[in-house]
Amino acid sequence: MQTVHTVSDLRVALRPRPDWALVPTMGNLHAGHLGLIARARKENVPVVASIFVNRLQFGPNEDFDRYPRTLQHDAELLAEAGCDLLFAPDEAEMYPQPQTFRVLPDPAIADMLDGAARPGHFEGVATVVMKLFQMTGPRHAVFGKKDYQQLLIIRRMVEQFALPIDIIGLDTVRADDGLALSSRNGYLTPEERAQAPQLQAALRALAEDARLATAPEQIRLLEQQTMARLDQLGWVPDYLTLRRRSDLQTPTALDLHQGAACVVLGAARLGRTRLIDNLEC
Ligand code: PAF
Repeated sequence: MQTVHTVSDLRVALRPRPDWALVPTMGNLHAGHLGLIARARKENVPVVASIFVNRLQFGPNEDFDRYPRTLQHDAELLAEAGCDLLFAPDEAEMYPQPQTFRVLPDPAIADMLDGAARPGHFEGVATVVMKLFQMTGPRHAVFGKKDYQQLLIIRRMVEQFALPIDIIGLDTVRADDGLALSSRNGYLTPEERAQAPQLQAALRALAEDARLATAPEQIRLLEQQTMARLDQLGWVPDYLTLRRRSDLQTPTALDLHQGAACVVLGAARLGRTRLIDNLEC
């Protein structure tokens, strides 16, 4: 596997092959990321992974400074996983000027849930993903469904800007006890790590109970009860909610009646760590 750090070297490395599959990451790779590489390889095109911890998508009091940076180990994992090219720019390469031109995602899908809790987050994500798309010109790009709202926003961005990129969403990879793999799991103390699967269990229970609901008010009550249960277990829940998969809006009575495809999404803080997860239902 070749590693490049500049856009000009990247373009030279990409040139000999017409089609690539891109796996954008922020590094500190785990089995979930390696699953994205494996999925990308199924497209039978060479795979380029990017590693860049994107300051634009972190709020002022978030974990940008302590976000784990493990480039050398990541490169070894990527090479073992069959990745062909690694693009690992530094901040000056990605943002040689202050990034005053931005991609502003539709507030209807970007200002709720994680976007409400993390103002500007999805603008930062959309901007860097657009830049990565411009830099690599991929035919395919693979993202994990753990960041469900991010995936929807990227799909919409690609549709609305008519980008010729096939966006592939991959199911969340979980530890044996159900915890969704995430680089942020490394922040958890051993006690918190043992407790962490409670978020997934709460989502599962909400999805189960919501199946019997016929009115949006019932769903709202179930969401409140689920959040209260997590709160009692020592979490600080941000949201636990049932939404339509298509646009992440609250399902109407008709949606519930017609069994519209839904997803339960949750975000909650355990100690100093904010975890997110979701479950299609
Ligand atoms: O999902 C991530 O790791 C990041 O949000 C992404 C897509 C690499 C953009 O920085």
